[in-house]
Amino acid sequence: MTSAGLEGIIAGKTGIATVGKQGAGLTYRGYRIEDLAEHATFEEVAYLLIYNRLPDAKQLAAYKKRLAGLQGLPDELKAVLEHIPATAHPMDVLRTGCSMLGTIEPEGEGGRTPASIADRLIASLGSMLLYWYRFKNRGERIETVSGEDTVAGHFLRLLTGAEPDPLKRRALDVSLILYAEHEFNASTFTARVVTSTLADIYSAITAAIGALRGPLHGGANEAAMELVSQFDSPAVAEKGIMQMLAARRLIMGFGHRVYKNGDPRSAIVKDWAKRLSDAAGDTSLFDISERVEQVIMREKRLHPNLDFFAATTYHLCGVPTPMFTPVFVIARTSGWAAHVIEQKSDNRLIRPLGEYTGPEPGAFVALAER
Ligand code: COA
Repeated sequence: MTSAGLEGIIAGKTGIATVGKQGAGLTYRGYRIEDLAEHATFEEVAYLLIYNRLPDAKQLAAYKKRLAGLQGLPDELKAVLEHIPATAHPMDVLRTGCSMLGTIEPEGEGGRTPASIADRLIASLGSMLLYWYRFKNRGERIETVSGEDTVAGHFLRLLTGAEPDPLKRRALDVSLILYAEHEFNASTFTARVVTSTLADIYSAITAAIGALRGPLHGGANEAAMELVSQFDSPAVAEKGIMQMLAARRLIMGFGHRVYKNGDPRSAIVKDWAKRLSDAAGDTSLFDISERVEQVIMREKRLHPNLDFFAATTYHLCGVPTPMFTPVFVIARTSGWAAHVIEQKSDNRLIRPLGEYTGPEPGAFVALAER
């Protein structure tokens, strides 16, 4: 029996997350996403995912200090980043940066483990992206050790060079929690396939970044922003969406392979989009997004997924649109790493079968006779 897109297939066991499980919803290691988003910080969640327990106050303080100490970039990596064109997509910068770091600080040398490399990447992926961005856009060679002890604060500080606004920092922090982990999605499954060959974690995460890049997966948050920014009022948005639906176009940021009755992360991120809009004294983008949501529910019974209101949230945090999916990468590195570690702990090569639909075996035709 085949299943297009492996839909409905249980492809392995995991103790990391439940997605849409009856009675549980979305949980990370048994903790509900609603509680994590309300009460935890991204650093606590990353620790939970990678080290399989919630840190106590002392462990969390030490972890934040360790991450802050891993923000710097080696000169060889900076040189590579400086060679990437200004026109490159930021996801390609991260894919390249992750791969390059793996050649300078390989797994297995200097006591490096998948967990310590995960911490290094979580701390430095933002550094890589923003070093490249500021060098290409403003000709600056920035110091990537920001002095910020949160991943969200580090990102915002390097993006603007200024003290991050607390509301925006917390909004970004919550979005990182929401994006951190999601069971056997396409990019995580990619990381597990690579790991199952006993390749190193840099290879797994580089491949996962590639899988996340597409608009059916992580790239949907950027595509959602492009969608809503076309419209200058809710009424225009309604008309535009009706035309798109009539043309049977996909509306990015809606629908989900697993959640058919709504993505529990959407309400949380929508609430942050609203809070940021109110604080900015300009709810126009939020109002347009909300109208799009209503029209798609009315016409197609489709719910928004996390990516839809994440777009408004990131825009209001001042994050440039092409960096939306890279922010997702920084968050999801914690989940990918948890899966890499889990896969390694009980490994079996992932190698399914294909159902053959090609020609029957026939006589080979020699080159001269073709
Ligand atoms: N816009 C318009 N129609 C959509 C849609 C969307 N975003 N998502 C699903 N549909 C429609 C499909 O066209 C299909 O209609 P049909 O039965 O008339 O052909 C129906 O809803 C069922 O969807 P299906 O394609 O079977 O769902 P899937 O499980 O294969 O796809 C996604 C899931 C996420 C790939 C899909 O919903 C999608 O492409 N969404 C947009 C991209 C996105 O937001 N990705 C981020 C996911 S977190």
